[in-house]
Amino acid sequence: MRTLRLTLRPLELTDAPRIAALGGDWDVARMTGRIPYPYSSDAALHWMTGLADGEIVFGIDRNGADSAKQLIGLCGYTRNADGSAEIGYWIGRPYWGDGYATEAARALIDYGFTKGAVKRFTCSHFTDNPASARVIAKLGFRASGECSGWCEARQISLPTLRYERRRPWTSAIKALAS
Ligand SMILES: CC(C)(COP(=O)(O)OP(=O)(O)OC[C@H]1O[C@@H](n2cnc3c(N)ncnc32)[C@H](O)[C@@H]1OP(=O)(O)O)[C@@H](O)C(=O)NCCC(=O)NCCS
Repeated sequence: MRTLRLTLRPLELTDAPRIAALGGDWDVARMTGRIPYPYSSDAALHWMTGLADGEIVFGIDRNGADSAKQLIGLCGYTRNADGSAEIGYWIGRPYWGDGYATEAARALIDYGFTKGAVKRFTCSHFTDNPASARVIAKLGFRASGECSGWCEARQISLPTLRYERRRPWTSAIKALAS
C-alpha cells in the first residue's frame, strides 16, 4: 500500500532490530500498551512471530528518493468478531511531527474499510498522550468513553480515552465493488 510519502507493507523478520531500536525508545514504548521496556531484537522477533489471527500489522517505510526503504514505524489493527477493529500505531522519535502517523493511519483505515471488512474502527490513547489525541482527531474519530489501559513499559494501568469511527457508506460501496 503506497501513500504520497510512505509504503505500508508486511513485516519481515529482518525488521526486528529496527523495530526494537525505534519502538524501544522510552518515549515511544511508554505511550503504547504492549511494547516492553527495555525492548530487545529477540523480544521484537518473538512478538512478530506470535501475532494472533485477526492481527494485521504493517511496517511503515518512508519512500526514499532512491527507492531505498526505511522503516520509520508500525501500524495495524486487531479484528473483533463483531466487525470492529482496534487500531494501533507508533512512529520512531526522529520522524515525529511530519504527519507520518496520520498519513499511515489514513491508508490503514481505508484498507480496513474497503478490503478488510471492518465496519467500525476503535482506538484509544493514554490521557498523557496529546500527540496521539491530535492524530485521532485528524483521522475523524469521535470520543466514545474512558477506561483504564495497561501499559507494559510502565507496568501500570493508566487512564485512557476511547474513540470510534464507523465505516462511511462510500467505503461500504467500494468494498462491495472490489
Ligand atoms: C503519537 C505519534 C504516533 C504521532 O506521530 P506523528 O507522525 O508525529 O504524528 P502526526 O505528525 O501525524 O501528528 C501529530 C500531531 O500532534 C501534535 N502534537 C505533537 N505533540 C503534541 C503535544 N505535546 N501536544 C499537543 N499536540 C501535539 C502535532 O502538532 C500534530 O498535530 P498538527 O498536525 O495539528 O500540527 C508519535 O508521537 C508516537 O509514535 N508516539 C509514541 C507512541 C504512541 O503514542 N503511539 C500511539 C499510541 S495511542
